[in-house]
Amino acid sequence: MSTHYSRRRFLTHSSMGLLAFAGLPRVLQAMEGMHGMPKMTPNKASPNFKPDVEIELFCKPNWVAILQGKKTWVQQYSARLLQGPKDTITEIAGSYLGPIIRLKKGQKVRIHLHNELIQPTVTHWHGLHVPANMDGHPQYTIDPGQTLVYEFEVLNRASMAIYHPHPHEMTAEQVYHGLAGTIIINDEEEAALELPSGEYEIPIVIQDRRFDADNQLVYAGHMRDRMMGFYGDRILVNGHADFQLEVASRAYRLRVLNGSTARIYKLAWDDGTPITVIGVDGGLLEKPEVKPYVMLAPGERLDVWADFSGRSEGSQLVMRSAAFSGVLPKMGMMHHGGSVAVGSEYPIFTVKVTRKVSESHSLPSQLSKINWYKVSDTANPNKPIPIAISEGHMAMLLNGRPYKYDDLQDFERIKVDTIQLMEIFHAHGGMGHGAAATQDSGEDHQSGGMGGMRGGMGMGHKGGMGMMGGMGGMGGGMGMMMAMAHPIHLHGQSFQIVSRSVGAGTEDDYATVSEGFIESGLKDTVLVMPGETVRIIKPFQDFKGLFMYHCHNLEHEDMGMMRDFSVE
Ligand code: C2O
Ligand code: CU
Ligand code: CU
Repeated sequence: MSTHYSRRRFLTHSSMGLLAFAGLPRVLQAMEGMHGMPKMTPNKASPNFKPDVEIELFCKPNWVAILQGKKTWVQQYSARLLQGPKDTITEIAGSYLGPIIRLKKGQKVRIHLHNELIQPTVTHWHGLHVPANMDGHPQYTIDPGQTLVYEFEVLNRASMAIYHPHPHEMTAEQVYHGLAGTIIINDEEEAALELPSGEYEIPIVIQDRRFDADNQLVYAGHMRDRMMGFYGDRILVNGHADFQLEVASRAYRLRVLNGSTARIYKLAWDDGTPITVIGVDGGLLEKPEVKPYVMLAPGERLDVWADFSGRSEGSQLVMRSAAFSGVLPKMGMMHHGGSVAVGSEYPIFTVKVTRKVSESHSLPSQLSKINWYKVSDTANPNKPIPIAISEGHMAMLLNGRPYKYDDLQDFERIKVDTIQLMEIFHAHGGMGHGAAATQDSGEDHQSGGMGGMRGGMGMGHKGGMGMMGGMGGMGGGMGMMMAMAHPIHLHGQSFQIVSRSVGAGTEDDYATVSEGFIESGLKDTVLVMPGETVRIIKPFQDFKGLFMYHCHNLEHEDMGMMRDFSVE
């Protein structure tokens, strides 16, 4: 059943056909990444499962026209519908992105994932509440040529989820080269609202990429690109550069996903029109929220009501990323992304009104009903489960450790069908500097050892200074220098955000982003600013097994900023 991967086993086990492939060195490099991860026999279709929707999903290399001139080599999802409603699969024309998969709450879904890459892969349904063995944990990674069958029922409410690879230490690279797509889930509560649909409901997947002179994708070469995250110098929307959306003068529903590996956006309309948000990661809000701007970190989604009625034919509106600070160490802010440096101001896409129409939808004032939990509903109101972020020497850690299979700490074991209070905080700053000042709430964490976590772990290595390349004069010591924002993602059910508290000394930076957070909806990814403490309530219902939690800065994830919760 479960066997351990090693290079030797790989060489003896895998097909000679593959070894004859020109991609050999690359495959070997990839196999190193699988070290220590067990490998399960790929799941097969079960005769007792009667799917309403059945899809074949392929991962394979392709050449796609992204920029003028030469095509770009990508890795891409494509799909074929075997059974189910015709509108289950929608291709995005000319894009390397996988097709939109449209599902309905209550449907039984079977997906045959075919790995036609030259690397191992596995697909995760980010945002879906599915059994642990259907969730795309890296232990279910399949080799080139293999097929993995997923079977699950759609339990989620209406929302937009993501599908993307999750192989151990190779997630970022595979996503970067094109493997990602969206899943739109519909339900009856949403249908009753008659929100804009069809051509008036538009996915907006925002990604940044870097190309060489031959139009080929360039990916992280330096350690620094992994520590800070990799930042491209071009912004793509739905796989297109300089994206333009031609619209009629009426209301639209924009389904926005930050599909970048590391880049954080501060979305704002360039003419000062506020952004009307009707939903986030886990679906519709109860009531629309009107925001001057919205922060969107990797993995986060936004459901935007964009009403262009009253705009004249030929008029334009630009969605920009507005200026902000504090998400990267100062040196990172300066160097990353060239003309589109993180936190600088730059355009993302342009909306052009090309048709004047008279009819429009009006925005419902009541969108949905969310069943909120109270802290007193949790199993541990006085002992939040810790999620301690530490940015260490050449390592990115959660709860003091890099990812390791079968390395559970006591508080990482969670009883099934419970609701848990959790606290995400920064645990670096070991040298007695700034960011360690997470306020003590007067409560204990679940593990006795966690007290030390707050005090001073992670940053102890002097060698870390070398990497900072003579930046020693900046900021308040190592803790602050390394401090950065992390989008923390938890697999399984969505959570609610209970509170946020700003890190001492970070107030000025925080003020540049704080109005852009949305706490009035269900989330599965939350951006945690340097020094910030975020409390969440999350249910762990229905399914036992391993569910990951990790930073959705995918370079961080691959560097080990990931752990498992074992639901038992
Ligand atoms: Cu979107 Cu574990 O990932
Ligand atoms: Cu996920
Ligand atoms: Cu991170």
